Amino acid sequence: MRAFHNTVLRFAACIAMMLLASFVPAAALAQEKTSALMTPELLEKVRRANNECFACHSEEGVKKPPRADLDITKLRPLAHDPKVFNGSNHGLMECTQCHGQGYTEFPHAADARESISACEECHAAKVLRIEKQLDASVHATRVKDKFTCSTCHDPHVDLIASTLIDPRKIVAQDNQHCLDCHDSELEFAKFAPDDEQTSTKKKRPDIDKIHEWLPNTRVHWQAVRCVECHTPATKTLSHEIVNKEKAERQCLTCHSASSSLTTRLYRHLAKEEQERLGFANSVILASSYVLGATRHPWLDRLIVGAFAAMLLGLLIHGLARIVARIVRRKKNHG
Ligand code: HEC
Ligand code: HEC
Ligand code: HEC
Ligand code: HEC
Ligand code: HEC
Ligand code: HEC
Ligand code: HEC
Repeated sequence: MRAFHNTVLRFAACIAMMLLASFVPAAALAQEKTSALMTPELLEKVRRANNECFACHSEEGVKKPPRADLDITKLRPLAHDPKVFNGSNHGLMECTQCHGQGYTEFPHAADARESISACEECHAAKVLRIEKQLDASVHATRVKDKFTCSTCHDPHVDLIASTLIDPRKIVAQDNQHCLDCHDSELEFAKFAPDDEQTSTKKKRPDIDKIHEWLPNTRVHWQAVRCVECHTPATKTLSHEIVNKEKAERQCLTCHSASSSLTTRLYRHLAKEEQERLGFANSVILASSYVLGATRHPWLDRLIVGAFAAMLLGLLIHGLARIVARIVRRKKNHG
């Protein structure tokens, strides 16, 4: 009787497993946005107000300045693209919500810069959390000038990752900020510390040379973020840039099925897309730099197929045993 019981239990477990396996998690939840509060009238008002600034601060404005007395060489580097701004995180805001009093008139007030709102005025909780990580960063301890949020973020351009979604776009935006400085003598020199021995500015380490061990370095930078290797290996990304001794150099951190990229860079993609855009590249297999980097969709399908076949086998086996037992019991009693 006990053996019969066990067989039935095993059979039930089998069915439960198959049900579980066929249960596909639902698609990502839709996100509520503040932009839902925007009415067409309100948007019209914002656009009209911002056009007053764009009259000068745009390509158009530089070409056809609304006034004759403008210093065009000063204005040219201050041009913004209305389309880019309108599509950014802050695209629904009036310029003057961040640029206070001194900018509504021209010439701008001499102390207008002081009236630019800092991020924490509107994002207090975020800044509080991020500032702790920035204070622990190499940039806080080594760099001469203090980094502010806008050293790496352009409030007129940036879009959050959950809106960009496409990993290439996320990578392009995030790496641009690091490369603008680490790939430019001019920018780097502004922040570079003094060299201890020579008391001259520390020279910018050549970004390609440093990463020579990484094949197709520039290809990597189009596909993966600097912060994937230069922040602590936690589940979500931190703002703490660690020193180079602690930087990631294990190929398998990314080139494996359980890549950290799935919880960080690819987390905004739906599951199917992760599989399509994630690691399935024959390039890595062909050049066989990376042992174990075998993540081929057909291989995955084969493994899933083998698993299903095994379950089916168990099922048939269980059924057969139950039938055999019933037949045997009938024989014994009859
Ligand atoms: C009539 C043309 C004109 C208009 C309109 C204008 N600006 Fe300017 N702005 C300039 C010029 C030229 C400069 C270059 C530096 C200077 O002369 O102050 C400048 C500089 C700036 C700067 C940089 C200041 C600095 O110290 O680095 C900011 C920020 C700025 N403008 C914001 C705005 C905003 C916001 C508006 C709209 C509310 C606006 N501007 C409207 C012409 C204009
Ligand atoms: C969310 C806040 C915010 C909004 C909205 C905003 N700005 Fe700015 N802007 C800043 C900050 C912060 C800086 C200073 C960046 C820095 O530290 O150099 C700045 C700098 C500038 C500068 C000078 C430096 C540069 O990169 O050109 C100009 C010009 C400017 N803003 C124009 C505009 C215009 C025009 C608008 C509206 C279309 C606008 N801003 C909307 C926050 C904002
Ligand atoms: C005057 C207020 C104000 C200032 C100053 C400001 N922001 Fe924002 N920010 C907003 C508003 C409003 C939104 C839109 C919120 C939304 O759509 O949920 C926003 C959205 C964002 C978002 C995307 C939405 C999110 O939930 O994270 C980011 C990232 C962001 N801001 C970063 C910055 C940074 C970095 C600075 C400083 C350079 C800054 N902001 C300064 C008001 C501000
Ligand atoms: C050293 C450069 C650097 C500085 C300084 C910096 N950030 Fe960032 N920040 C990044 C990078 C790179 C990312 C993208 C990686 C990530 O998602 O964490 C990011 C991501 C973010 C995000 C998430 C955006 C998204 O796509 O979801 C927010 C919000 C943010 N930063 C706000 C801030 C604020 C506020 C400050 C100032 C207290 C700040 N950052 C300072 C580099 C910087
Ligand atoms: C695949 C991982 C990886 C990526 C992606 C990566 N790095 Fe690195 N990086 C490293 C490692 C590992 C080191 C340490 C190298 C050494 O000490 O030989 C390093 C070193 C550095 C250094 C130290 C230079 C010095 O010698 O003082 C800088 C600066 C740097 N990286 C910046 C960047 C920037 C900017 C990006 C993005 C464009 C980036 N890294 C992308 C892994 C990476
Ligand atoms: C405005 C300029 C600037 C920006 C933006 C910037 N850095 Fe740096 N970074 C520096 C300077 C200056 C140093 C100090 C160099 C030194 O001490 O040798 C440095 C140092 C580093 C180091 C070297 C640490 C070590 O151990 O030697 C790494 C790694 C690094 N940065 C990565 C990044 C990453 C990743 C980003 C983007 C999220 C970034 N940086 C953005 C200027 C910048
Ligand atoms: C931080 C994550 C990360 C690390 C660490 C990393 N890679 Fe990559 N690698 C990527 C991504 C993302 C791609 C782009 C894959 C794609 O486009 O399908 C890539 C692409 C490649 C490619 C193909 C380049 C091409 O021409 O298309 C090779 C080869 C490669 N990596 C080798 C390595 C080796 C060897 C190491 C260790 C020394 C390494 N990677 C470390 C993320 C990483």
